[in-house]
Amino acid sequence: MSTQPKILVTSAAGKTGLPVTLQLLHKGADVRAFVRRYDQRARRLERAGAEVFVGNQYDLTDLRAAMQGMHRAYQCAPTAPNGLHFNAAFTVAAAEAKLEHIVTLGQWLSSADHPSLFTREVYISDQLARLSPDTTVTSVDPGWFADNYLMVLDTAAHLGLFTMPLGPGDEKKNAPPSNEDIASVAVAALLDPEAHAHCHYRPTGPTLLSPNDIAAAIGQALGRSVSYVDISEKMMTKALRAHPPANYSAAAVSQLAIYAEEYRRGSFAVNAPTRDVEMVGGRTPEAFEDIVRRYVAGQPRYKTSLSRRLAAMAGFVKILATPALDLARVQSDRDYVAPRQPRFSQDTEEWARTHVPRPGAVKRLKSA
Ligand SMILES: NC(=O)c1ccc[n+]([C@@H]2O[C@H](COP(=O)([O-])OP(=O)(O)OC[C@H]3O[C@@H](n4cnc5c(N)ncnc54)[C@H](OP(=O)(O)O)[C@@H]3O)[C@@H](O)[C@H]2O)c1
Repeated sequence: MSTQPKILVTSAAGKTGLPVTLQLLHKGADVRAFVRRYDQRARRLERAGAEVFVGNQYDLTDLRAAMQGMHRAYQCAPTAPNGLHFNAAFTVAAAEAKLEHIVTLGQWLSSADHPSLFTREVYISDQLARLSPDTTVTSVDPGWFADNYLMVLDTAAHLGLFTMPLGPGDEKKNAPPSNEDIASVAVAALLDPEAHAHCHYRPTGPTLLSPNDIAAAIGQALGRSVSYVDISEKMMTKALRAHPPANYSAAAVSQLAIYAEEYRRGSFAVNAPTRDVEMVGGRTPEAFEDIVRRYVAGQPRYKTSLSRRLAAMAGFVKILATPALDLARVQSDRDYVAPRQPRFSQDTEEWARTHVPRPGAVKRLKSA
């Protein structure tokens, strides 16, 4: 192997793939960025020094081509159906290419019998990745991203409402990480496999926040008062159907509803916040309000005006008029494999056992 390892980043134009690529390049790494189209994000990666590979990352032939000459890789299944297919194809191509190290983006909730198909697929993918004798693996398992709250930034900016089905407003149930902080943990592991092989990391933001805290931070960043409204799951599916975020399929919406249930159960608060961003990523985790300020900065669409307020009200009427998604129907229409006895993460003995603070990993880094 040359002295400079080559690193493949999949989902390189995505929420975590983009900062993973940029941070690796910033640290002088040699990076191939896998994107599905040559657009302005691909050009940005190219300008920053990445070799851009355009292809379909669900396609084994493309993955095999992308892995040629690579030594390490960031494995990131898109938030979309067929995650297990992507991960299986990735694992085959990585084993054939005899990659020395993989950093895989998993999930905080990852467990074998989870009600969410996407989560069960992540669990299986994680086990699969570890079967290859030539490759070491680091798992980065974040919880509910800070980015998720920003799906409703328009409503907050123009109607003063933060609407999500997160349960009581005063219960502190998530320490949301920024995409960049999640990326920093993956980057550390990609650059130093020896220190991070076999580790599982759970990057979080610095502080557990309640929905009221989230609303207040969004309000501070927007310069207006914002109140939390605990909406029903049905209303959430109506909103996501009326105004789908980019790339969000009905299948993804159905999984988000299950993650909201986990949120209300407090699963993202179990042993959170962690110190992984600080100890592994080497940076101070970004406060939620600062994350929102970054998103809002220089975006005229969040500035208040009568026309934008009227547009937001029209958007709200559209939500009310949109039929809710029949979550059970989505799963049966797609022939989802169902576990015999679905169990939320905290009801699973393995999950509870492995979601404890991991002083071992931190100690090893301290002495490194
Ligand atoms: N959001 C959360 O709260 C959360 C929490 C825990 C774990 N996760 C995990 O995060 C992962 C997603 O990571 P992310 O948010 O960084 O990814 P992401 O933003 O969903 O990015 C996926 C990228 O993959 C690209 N892509 C989609 N289909 C492709 C194809 N066929 N070929 C090539 N590229 C394709 C997309 O391209 P375009 O942009 O061009 O469409 C997009 O840039 C999921 O596996 C999920 O389990 C998410």
